Amino acid sequence: MYNFFSVKDVVNVYKIVKESLFLKKNPYSFKYIGKNKTIGLVFFNPSLRTRISCQKAAFNLGCNIWVLNVNKDSWNIEMNDGTVMKTTQEHLKEAISVMSLYCDILGVRTFPNLLNKNYDYEEIIFKKILRYSRVPVINLESATLHPLQSLADIITIAEHSSFFKKKCKVVLSWVPHIKPLPHSVVNSLIQWITKIKEIEFCITYPEQYDLHEKFIRDYKGKIYYNQNKALLNSDFVYAKNWSSCVVKYGKILCKDRKWMITKEKMKLTNKAKFMHCLPVRRNIVVEDSVLDSNDSIVLQQAENRIYASQIIFLKIFQSLL
Ligand code: CP
Repeated sequence: MYNFFSVKDVVNVYKIVKESLFLKKNPYSFKYIGKNKTIGLVFFNPSLRTRISCQKAAFNLGCNIWVLNVNKDSWNIEMNDGTVMKTTQEHLKEAISVMSLYCDILGVRTFPNLLNKNYDYEEIIFKKILRYSRVPVINLESATLHPLQSLADIITIAEHSSFFKKKCKVVLSWVPHIKPLPHSVVNSLIQWITKIKEIEFCITYPEQYDLHEKFIRDYKGKIYYNQNKALLNSDFVYAKNWSSCVVKYGKILCKDRKWMITKEKMKLTNKAKFMHCLPVRRNIVVEDSVLDSNDSIVLQQAENRIYASQIIFLKIFQSLL
């Protein structure tokens, strides 16, 4: 593995989940591989989990790490080409090229603008970053994908299904939100989860919240506009809001609070585990009683972000040997 942009950079999802679980049990087993190596993390958008779990993963591999919050700690970066830079001080081209000289792996987070679907879905910014970097690049959440989150999610499901020995039903449910959110967690989850044949996966959302053709094209599972029907007999409920994609890109089209995950709704399930990538808005997305119950595994998902990052760093370091 050189770059890590999506599940397509992984040869075998089962194998990488297994290796991640090994790292969870033996976090320091490759503690020398990162000697004299540096990982750089560049955030164009806020983060708690991604930033700190990557730092912990780097420490476990014995390497140095630096973090830059762009536009807060740095010059304002110009993303567009050919601009007369009156309000921005440094172009993405120099910024990424320079930062890549200061590390062996560069992780970057760049959210979508949610204004121009083609611009976001063509991953214009991330493609430039891949072009300008002199070292391998890791996707810490791009305009359309969040692969480290999905890997952590799959690791978590593996832990609760005896490594997929028990067949299980996972429901991805749209939930309300007060801000228009990206589609990256959802797109990535579809890409990763459909690689696991033991998982029966279905998606539920209000009409008009169809996902992008690029990610739904090969999806063979069911889509329900009736959340209660989808939840029936499920073993995992993954709640996530997304803004509209196909109709009125990036807008909020539904504010129906009936889509919030509640204790009553969880009664429709097969004592399902509740999942969310975090951060989560309590009592908008999910009721306190669900999030605080023993069936909530959101902290385990967050913990597994360490091992998802660690296995990807390790794979890249091994490829550089
Ligand atoms: N789930 C996730 O990526 O969390 P952060 O935005 O806090 O990194």
